[in-house]
Amino acid sequence: MSKLAINGGEPVRTGPFTGWPPDDPGFLQRLQQVLDSGVWGGHGEQGEEFCEKFAAFHDAEYAIAITNGTQAIQLCLHVLGVGPGDEVIVPPYTFVGTAQAVIAANAVPRFADIEPDTFCLDPEDVKANINDSTAAVLPVHIGGMPCNMAALQEICAEHDLKLVEDACQAHGAEYDGTKVGAIGDMGAFSLQASKNVCAGEGGMVLTNDRALYEAGWRFVNCGRIMGGAWYDHRTYGYNMRLGAFQSAVALRGLELLPGHMDIRDENAAHLRERLSKIDGVAAQAFPDGATRSAYHLFIFRYDSATVGVSRDRFIEALSAEGIPVGKGYNPLYRERMFTEDLDIGSFPFVSQYYEGSIDYTQTHCPVCEHVCNDGSFWMGQSSLLGTTKDMDAIADAIEKVIEYKDEIS
Ligand SMILES: Cc1ncc(COP(=O)(O)O)c(C=O)c1O
Repeated sequence: MSKLAINGGEPVRTGPFTGWPPDDPGFLQRLQQVLDSGVWGGHGEQGEEFCEKFAAFHDAEYAIAITNGTQAIQLCLHVLGVGPGDEVIVPPYTFVGTAQAVIAANAVPRFADIEPDTFCLDPEDVKANINDSTAAVLPVHIGGMPCNMAALQEICAEHDLKLVEDACQAHGAEYDGTKVGAIGDMGAFSLQASKNVCAGEGGMVLTNDRALYEAGWRFVNCGRIMGGAWYDHRTYGYNMRLGAFQSAVALRGLELLPGHMDIRDENAAHLRERLSKIDGVAAQAFPDGATRSAYHLFIFRYDSATVGVSRDRFIEALSAEGIPVGKGYNPLYRERMFTEDLDIGSFPFVSQYYEGSIDYTQTHCPVCEHVCNDGSFWMGQSSLLGTTKDMDAIADAIEKVIEYKDEIS
């Protein structure tokens, strides 16, 4: 008789894991305050409070609330002077917004590989990809795991490059005891619906530099200057303000974050402990200096040779056992926007300035390709908000699929 649920056996788990967004009455209270205030435009009072508290929580001086994470990255690059003719080094193991923001800033993304255990940008491959056009490095704290910032800071200092953190998944994550986001020159967060602090859609920018903050503020406020008149536009800018209602929702999310982080940490530690006794499946490793993950994703390392089952087949079996896991990203340079429709020559503004040559069909990041094709799978952050029993169900299901692998291999 078959044991695995994929073959008709009894699943390890039938009930749901914790969902997202959180069910919390505080969201409605915060929204009601905006309704009652009658001030719906701009960031509103809640937006001001959100910026102050988001910056303080993240060990940063200044925060700018913005429409989404992609535009938050674009803002950082723009105010740091990255633009036409420049290349920005990015990892290929990330959401497309990382690279699209570079293109939106009229610059060109160049992909450097990731590390096999941490899935974060590999400082050695960053060095190998620096050339005369390189203007910035854009590491992604993937899954909420802080990159090796000390190594990246050293490289950027040596080559006079800007360092922008894509912290879109990393609310509250810590590197060497400091929250990420303002460790580099600037950092960008997403508040999109799945994120650990969310507003449905939204973004945040952090920096410790007053001049960059003011330039960023102008960027999202139609080129106005801080404290200036409403119809006084000094520079080109956009209306990219995060609205008062979204700020209110995000503010409540920020209030919930410390408690949520503690629960995720505790559950992740238990799951890591269980995984440490399983051959062929492990947890995303911490890079040197990373002290706390935000656990936006719990990313599993998978060794199909040890387990004896392909990653794809393994997660089909695990899903049938009632565990909500997915394959994750494809190498970003394999997306058709890079290989077919949007080669360099047709990026919106960059082609007439760009003298380098990147043929993305020739880009090859072997570690990322293995990680995406057969070497990993992941689970979303809200599954970590449940109980120890939930974590045991995940580990039990992994053990079960391995025990009965002959049924599927
Ligand atoms: C790593 C990363 N970078 C950038 C983004 C873009 O953020 P947004 O969707 O808010 O534009 C996301 C969001 O999914 C992300 O996960």
